[in-house]
Amino acid sequence: MKKSKRFLPYGRQSIDQSDIKKVSRVLKNDFITQGPNVKNFEIKFAKYVGAKYAVACSNGTAALHLSCLALNLGPGKKLLTSTITFVASANCAQYVGAETLFADIDPSTFCISIESLKKILIKKKVDAVVVVHMSGHPANLQEIYKLKKKYDFHVIEDACHALGGFYKNTKIGSCKYSDLSTFSFHPIKSITTGEGGMITTNNKNTYKKLLNLRSHGIHKNTNDFYNKKIAFDKKGNPNMWYYEMNELGYNYRITDIQSALGESQLKKINKFINLRRKVAKIYNEGFAKNDLIETPIENSDVKHAYHLYTILINFKKLGKSRNEIMKVLKKNNIGTQVLYIPVHLQPYYLKKYGFKRGQFPFAEKYYDRCLSLPIFANLKKNEVNYVINKVNSIISTK
Ligand SMILES: Cc1ncc(COP(=O)(O)O)c(C=O)c1O
Repeated sequence: MKKSKRFLPYGRQSIDQSDIKKVSRVLKNDFITQGPNVKNFEIKFAKYVGAKYAVACSNGTAALHLSCLALNLGPGKKLLTSTITFVASANCAQYVGAETLFADIDPSTFCISIESLKKILIKKKVDAVVVVHMSGHPANLQEIYKLKKKYDFHVIEDACHALGGFYKNTKIGSCKYSDLSTFSFHPIKSITTGEGGMITTNNKNTYKKLLNLRSHGIHKNTNDFYNKKIAFDKKGNPNMWYYEMNELGYNYRITDIQSALGESQLKKINKFINLRRKVAKIYNEGFAKNDLIETPIENSDVKHAYHLYTILINFKKLGKSRNEIMKVLKKNNIGTQVLYIPVHLQPYYLKKYGFKRGQFPFAEKYYDRCLSLPIFANLKKNEVNYVINKVNSIISTK
């Protein structure tokens, strides 16, 4: 079989002429940072996921940090997440001075294990759980919601992988079972703004707090001014220049240019997800007969968004290492990645909290076997078949 002409990364953006047109228009506008496109993007995003409010920000990591701040997490508080995730899901606790705890994963969905979560909740007071919809497969939100009610903790859905996914007929991001949901628009995600992020919530106070925190903690709401003497002139009119900072915020703003791209990309989200799902289906069929490979599952009550397509490989039986396999695939223009190294095994967390290998067995078993293959909206059918043929010929004992 002929080598693929282009390198196929494990994920990449799909940009077309309509995106380019939309962004070009903004570049000719007066406002390229805080213009009308930010608000438009937020309104359309909230409508798409079915949440009341959406706040756009500079990236998915900032979205998680802002969420922790909005929920008043800080020193003395505990935030728990599943250990198979990107480090940002755990780091957000560290940014606010809270403690990070980890739970094991469910071996079938790779999302947080309800059993593991229960075991921790019995022993410790947890203030927030960051629920990761790993690879785009929604976590068991209903069970988590029951535990939220029983043990009284906040839920942040780290939905960076799951835009376009559904849990029991509700769109991920609707916050039906959570306080907040966070998204990333990094180029490998389902839609992109280059760098970018979004937070959704149904709580008006949380929404207002997020808006403030996103931009230095500064506001211009005349009713809330604290320094009345310098805020108003002698006639009681607000001074034109006046603003106040009443809490410590950040510059986590998104630009108008990025928001225009986001709006244009959002129009295509359903098409993108369907294309990703088609790729996943062809992969599933293509690997069905390979007994060294396990393909991802999709529970009957969810719609998988397939941000990632991750297979589990029996390297022991194969007699080759993952590194060898990745190198051979790369030579054949097939990009793969290991997503993720369990976060509790990162030196920062090992040293800070004294975690040990073997503590989260399902996560570690997953890590030993996982490999993410190329999946993105404009991956062509012949390219998918090329990947299948190469992977099947390389991952074989014959
Ligand atoms: C699960 C998860 N959470 C958070 C993030 C952080 O998003 P960003 O890269 O936009 O900061 C990512 C991005 O890779 C992610 O995959």
